[in-house]
Amino acid sequence: MLPVLVVHGGAGQIPKERVDLSTAGVRAAVRGGYTILQDGGSAMDAVVEAVTLLENNPDFNAGRGSVLNAKGEVEMDAIVMDGGALASGAVSAVRDVANPVQLARLVMERTSHTCLTANGAMQFARAMGVPEVLPESLVTDYARTLWENTLDPDDCHAGKMGTVGAVAVDAEGNVACATSTGGTRNKMEGRVGDTACIGGGAYADNKVGGVSSTGDGEAIMKVTLARLIVIYMEQGHSAERASNMGLAYMKERVGGLGGVVTVDPEGNWAARFSSPQMSWAAAQRNRIYYGLYEEERFTQSIDNLR
Ligand code: GLY
Repeated sequence: MLPVLVVHGGAGQIPKERVDLSTAGVRAAVRGGYTILQDGGSAMDAVVEAVTLLENNPDFNAGRGSVLNAKGEVEMDAIVMDGGALASGAVSAVRDVANPVQLARLVMERTSHTCLTANGAMQFARAMGVPEVLPESLVTDYARTLWENTLDPDDCHAGKMGTVGAVAVDAEGNVACATSTGGTRNKMEGRVGDTACIGGGAYADNKVGGVSSTGDGEAIMKVTLARLIVIYMEQGHSAERASNMGLAYMKERVGGLGGVVTVDPEGNWAARFSSPQMSWAAAQRNRIYYGLYEEERFTQSIDNLR
């Protein structure tokens, strides 16, 4: 069953003309991350690679392609978590870096903190030699058009585009997860969502499993969705059942919709969502699995993708 990698490209409602782009993007990301696992790499290396590929893909709401805040600017959040040491690193409201997930990993590995925000995170990025990119290089025409069409401040929760994320278990049984997002379009400047919050946007524990979340960030934070699902798994529920239970609780208790990818240390995995769609892909035993709509699950040999 090991290694295994599962990625998502965000829960929400994906416009018809972007469905193929979204599905192709998650398949490419899972292939990139799984290659690392096949070569004996760590779960952390695999999730960071998969999320980096999604951040670099302008068809997702993370890195280049991020949605714009109320001022028409990109502000991004990202997190990683290592289930061995329960170590985590996150950044919030960062602007001029191409790959916030890599900066989050540096926070975990090179500081004694778990989250750095805004200017402080950017100072840290400079100190680490992370190249700064021009803010415009992260803005796509699509994101600009969406923003121009939704200038109503109450519209920041409407028609969300998805966050990206990944969970993996490597051959040694280490669990890791990573999540990255541009947040909600037209959000207030300085708004930080669930993605940067340990237990909200991600959680990993080698003893139980790992989760990367996507969806309504304020709702995810209220129920600490990723940690909630891990608690359900601790209580004996399967990755799939625990994911369904967490999403159902969030819907019933705070009216939030979203999605998750979940693994347990044996390599059982789930990609579940309460939103109309979530693009996802998984790789295990040289096969990839992928889907977008409820109960959709295509599969093909990974060799056919190379
Ligand atoms: N789930 C991503 C966000 O709300 O920012």
